[in-house]
Amino acid sequence: MGEKVVRIGLFGLGTVGGGIVELLQRKNKEKGDYEFILEKIVVKHLDKERPTSVPSHLLTTNHQEILENPKIDTVIEVIGGINPAKEIILEALRKGKNVVTANKALLARIGSQLFREAIKNDCYLGVRASNVASYRLIESLTFSPFQIEKLVGVFNATCNYILTQMEKKKENFSSVLEKAQEIGYAEQDPSNDIDGYDTAHKLVVLLSLAMGYFLPLESVFIEGIRRISYQDILFARELGYRIKLLAIAKRRDNNLEVRVHPALVPMDKELAQLEGIENGLELRDEVGVEVGMRAPGAGKYPTATAILEDLICIAKGRKLILPQQRRYLNLKKIGEIESEYYLRFNVLDRVGVLAKISGILGSHNISIKSVIQKGKAKKSLSSVPIIMLTHEAKEEATQDALKKIDALPVVKGKSLLIRVEEGIL
Ligand SMILES: NC(=O)c1ccc[n+]([C@@H]2O[C@H](COP(=O)([O-])OP(=O)(O)OC[C@H]3O[C@@H](n4cnc5c(N)ncnc54)[C@H](OP(=O)(O)O)[C@@H]3O)[C@@H](O)[C@H]2O)c1
Repeated sequence: MGEKVVRIGLFGLGTVGGGIVELLQRKNKEKGDYEFILEKIVVKHLDKERPTSVPSHLLTTNHQEILENPKIDTVIEVIGGINPAKEIILEALRKGKNVVTANKALLARIGSQLFREAIKNDCYLGVRASNVASYRLIESLTFSPFQIEKLVGVFNATCNYILTQMEKKKENFSSVLEKAQEIGYAEQDPSNDIDGYDTAHKLVVLLSLAMGYFLPLESVFIEGIRRISYQDILFARELGYRIKLLAIAKRRDNNLEVRVHPALVPMDKELAQLEGIENGLELRDEVGVEVGMRAPGAGKYPTATAILEDLICIAKGRKLILPQQRRYLNLKKIGEIESEYYLRFNVLDRVGVLAKISGILGSHNISIKSVIQKGKAKKSLSSVPIIMLTHEAKEEATQDALKKIDALPVVKGKSLLIRVEEGIL
């Protein structure tokens, strides 16, 4: 078999870009059926010191040295952000170049436009690295003859690290976040991760492959982990659960629920057992076949490996992995879902408080499965937590009940609601 040469223009030489350079060097030494030649690397700062050494003649800040170079047939975009990544990818595709990207934020916003452009220009658009933890299931998503009925995943390494560290170190969210920032497991501006956006980006891309269309990002219900306290982790444990930030999609007939939020997962379930930066995905299709995988959710080599897998597809002349066109689904609003709920109320330690709260829940058709009420308040005006686990109830009714409970003079601060999710495996 003749050797296929892929000539690459790389945009970005940060964490992922550096990993790609290292893995390409390693792969090329194997002398397989294909060779990857790095023709040019675009960076922002030419003089920056870099952990990965590359010949200086490869580096440039001029985008056109890649985009206008007819020898380069494949562009890798790992600069991140929306602009100029969007312009780079569109121009590369319009010039007939294959594109491989790790940019889930961009794909979640304009993925359908990028796929259309790739099809129009007969180019490959590789998106495996946008879902590092679960890309090995992407083919089974796109080629499955059956529709996905349920998809649940832990997709954010930073959040899973923070939640598991809170439990291990018995510390609260803010101090664990600070330490995660010190060791580089959380960004200085952590909002994209801890407020759930990164998880939502990955979910939108996965769903596009699984269900055939890109949901508008704004239609995904997103809630992050900022309000989870060490106390909640302990109470959840006592009830037999661990708290995880989940991406959830459920389809029944033509109705689809898509949401990202922290959830109580039964301790014996696979997703509950993910530790640190580990991520996982579980799927069930409409004939009941269940699959799942766990893998690191980020990092230089896991991400660069996903990019390399797309490059190998290009070298082998594999066709684009296309989202299959499926029927349109009706998106449920969060108020329309049904779930079991973990509720935490901070109340004054007075006689009759529990009865008042239970009364309001009862009047909203919410029945209680278990209650935890601990400790006496040290001072008469300080509050104590009451935890309730409900049976399945309507979200709208539960939110409404919570508003009424929060308005009681004996209730201090905003009560907390965490949904319960059984997972699949
Ligand atoms: N890090 C991960 O574990 C991971 C995992 C999955 C997906 N991703 C995705 O991969 C992408 C890159 O992430 P990263 O962690 O590697 O980022 P990073 O370490 O911040 O690196 C970004 C690189 O892009 C270059 N760059 C930024 N803006 C540019 C511009 N306008 N023109 C040219 N070059 C520009 C930077 O140049 P200088 O070096 O000169 O400043 C840098 O080399 C993002 O989309 C991210 O979401 C990352």
